[in-house]
Amino acid sequence: MKTYHAIEWLAEGKLRLIDQRRLPQELVYCDYSDYHEVAVAIREMVVRGAPAIGITAGYGLALAAWYSPATDVETLRADLRAADAVLRAARPTAVNLFWALERVLRRAADPTLTTVAAIRKAVLAEAHAIYAFEAESNFRIGQNALPLVPDGAKIIHHCNTGPLATGEYGTALRVITAAHEAGKRVFAYVDETRPRLQGARLTAWELQQWGVPFTIIVDGAAAHIMRTVGIDLCVVGCDRIAANGDTANKIGTYSLALAAKAHNVPFYVVGPTSTIDMTLASGDDIVIEQRSADEVTRFEACQIAPAGASATNPAFDVTPAAYITAMITERGVVYPPFKENLARLMA
Ligand code: MRU
Repeated sequence: MKTYHAIEWLAEGKLRLIDQRRLPQELVYCDYSDYHEVAVAIREMVVRGAPAIGITAGYGLALAAWYSPATDVETLRADLRAADAVLRAARPTAVNLFWALERVLRRAADPTLTTVAAIRKAVLAEAHAIYAFEAESNFRIGQNALPLVPDGAKIIHHCNTGPLATGEYGTALRVITAAHEAGKRVFAYVDETRPRLQGARLTAWELQQWGVPFTIIVDGAAAHIMRTVGIDLCVVGCDRIAANGDTANKIGTYSLALAAKAHNVPFYVVGPTSTIDMTLASGDDIVIEQRSADEVTRFEACQIAPAGASATNPAFDVTPAAYITAMITERGVVYPPFKENLARLMA
């Protein structure tokens, strides 16, 4: 069971985050009172994972409201819009960031809130509600996934989708931990997830806390493991699902889906409905974050590529819906045809 909170609101008006860049070597907490610093924390991946980014952004607006010097409601709402602009520029791909910001701003715009104190209170309550929604969704996802995980399952997991990435139980990782808690024998193959190693550093750390047996594999080993060991299912998270089911997730997800298709392995995308973006017709419209070449050419302080070598570093890829067996959400399991069934789910 987990004993840590990746994101925590402190009563005195501070946001506490685990610095995920320093795990598993050190468990370090950072406290924030300035939303500008929260935006930097999201960009620099102190906190990461789509639902966790959304929760954090909600609290970023709560900080903006708490510390705004505004004495009238219109000035406070203008300060919140300014904070929204800063926070939404932090990272482009995970739709949860925008979903959470829009939710909090909509709450702040409620015309029945007629005092600065009332808006501050409502903004914080909405941020808490976003956290509660994600926590509840995490739990339901685990329950909904149980029938899909056979006893003795060998499962490949990509990136990190545990409590660190989602606030509470996890999403794709919750499929594994819920089956384990239910008494099923499960074994996880943890993709290391180049270049930031969210799998080797964070997923391995979280599975250790849960007591789930696992082994780490390099991303390129997945197809080999499918062919030689036999894998029962793959589970991955999601950063944005378009209306037709195309799914953006951590780079390497698409290759894993192709390998799964070639080996007849069920491939499940797991996430809350806050990650579904019905405004985008297909994955072609999803903005893919490009990160620094240093993440590829260096390993922390150590240069590993020749000095001056260029590197291209897309942080996410889009898996076409045709390679996805089903999506596991808090509202249930969605099968193809995704266009129709996602529309029904979101109606
Ligand atoms: O760059 P990151 O670490 O924020 O990317 C995270 C992922 O791609 C996760 O798989 C996704 O956000 C789902 S988290 C439940």
